[in-house]
Amino acid sequence: MESRILKSFTDPTWAAQAVDALDHTLCDHAHCEKKASVSAIALINDYPDDTGLVRAMSKLAEEEMRHFREVYDLLLERGVRLGRDAGDPYAKALFRLLRSHPKERKLDRLLIAALIEERSCERFALLREELASRGEERLAAQFKRLQISEAGHATLFVRLASEEFGPQPCQQRLEQLAELEAQIVAGLPIEARIH
Ligand SMILES: [Fe+2]
Ligand SMILES: [Fe+2]
Repeated sequence: MESRILKSFTDPTWAAQAVDALDHTLCDHAHCEKKASVSAIALINDYPDDTGLVRAMSKLAEEEMRHFREVYDLLLERGVRLGRDAGDPYAKALFRLLRSHPKERKLDRLLIAALIEERSCERFALLREELASRGEERLAAQFKRLQISEAGHATLFVRLASEEFGPQPCQQRLEQLAELEAQIVAGLPIEARIH
């Protein structure tokens, strides 16, 4: 799938690996949805005066928790326990790119969130194809819905950044961060997890 903002494609062997160890992938996925909700709440916490952001993030936090619940129910249905969050080296590496000046930091937070959403969207599309090729139609349809939803979230974060910081500075920084995101992805092992 051609991405609007990513600078690299996921390794073609990833999807088969993720579906071979689907329960493991789904556990990581559930934690990702939970963390997306937590990040949205953290933005409300840190920028309470930004009405547009607070409204958008309160809606997003709910939506991500609905995704969490959907994946969690799927785990229960499969007889899998969630287990502890093993951490996310991908997101951690991205957060290390945050600049310290408050304005720059806010821009970076919005754009890094957009990149994480966009990478998730790319991977859900790959999972959907792999699941469909193995006859897992119901799961494939579920990932199709999630993929559309995450694509909307990526667009939302880019729009919020662009409205506040201007289209050109936003685009410029997004290009830089997208290059770095691609390097981070290239440096991580290919595993049965979302990132
Ligand atoms: Fe989500
Ligand atoms: Fe999302």
